[in-house]
Amino acid sequence: MRDLAGLNALVTGGASGIGAAVAAELLRRGARVAVLDLDTRGAPDGTLALAADVTSDADVRDAVAAAVGEFGALHTVVSNAGIGAVGTVEDNGDDEWRRVLDVNVLGMVRTARHALPHLRRAAADRPGAVSVTHTCSIAATAGLPRRALYSASKGAVLSLTLAMAADHVREGIRVNCVNPGTADTPWVGRLLDRADDPVAERAALEARQPMGRLVSAAEVAAAVAYLASPAAAAVTGTALAVDGGMQGL
Ligand code: NAI
Repeated sequence: MRDLAGLNALVTGGASGIGAAVAAELLRRGARVAVLDLDTRGAPDGTLALAADVTSDADVRDAVAAAVGEFGALHTVVSNAGIGAVGTVEDNGDDEWRRVLDVNVLGMVRTARHALPHLRRAAADRPGAVSVTHTCSIAATAGLPRRALYSASKGAVLSLTLAMAADHVREGIRVNCVNPGTADTPWVGRLLDRADDPVAERAALEARQPMGRLVSAAEVAAAVAYLASPAAAAVTGTALAVDGGMQGL
């Protein structure tokens, strides 16, 4: 399926886990793909790798400009870079809150701010095919223990998605998010490495999802590719859960 042929995409955090799977899937379906990441070593072959930090407005500006310079236009933004935080509100101090919100929320704001002028231009040429997709999380809508900061950051991403969808719907720019449940990525690997009993911790994460398993990065990537595709031309302001039934069941 080459339903994304002719689209040029930027994927933040595209060198690992969900972002790398998204970059590979968009590429497989015919898009040209730029990957913005702190560490671009895991950027899939065939992508344009751009080393940048989403906490730096200048980095994001330059990376967007580099992608547009290479491709000539930008149709698809997947804002996916994010970091985790474990704990209750008593566990994380202000500095940790600022650090996580800077990456998870402001990183997406900066990416949108610099991409929107290009998306607006592209929307005139490709009606229905211009979009922003945020990687949110089921943590935005479910009360998960010991995830106060992370959940708050993803709650902000969900609200940002809805607000941006309203702001840009008349410009032909669709804005959606995916809400993965726990996904089998290096991130979860790091979480398990730090656990007292990694086997029990993994079993608990699997049990939390009604299907009794983690979701794969490829399953999340397929949802993102759909939201970016012309098949989703009527879809904006939606949160698509890919969570093994966690939200709905
Ligand atoms: P990951 O840790 O495998 O990949 C994250 C990527 O983002 C890495 O390549 C990292 O270098 C990059 N990154 C981090 N901070 C950055 C910054 N300041 N500037 C540029 N790049 C930066 O993690 P994973 O699991 O693939 O997560 C991706 C997204 O999916 C995150 O937004 C996360 O919140 C979300 N998510 C993950 C879930 C999971 O269970 N793995 C579940 C729900 C959502």
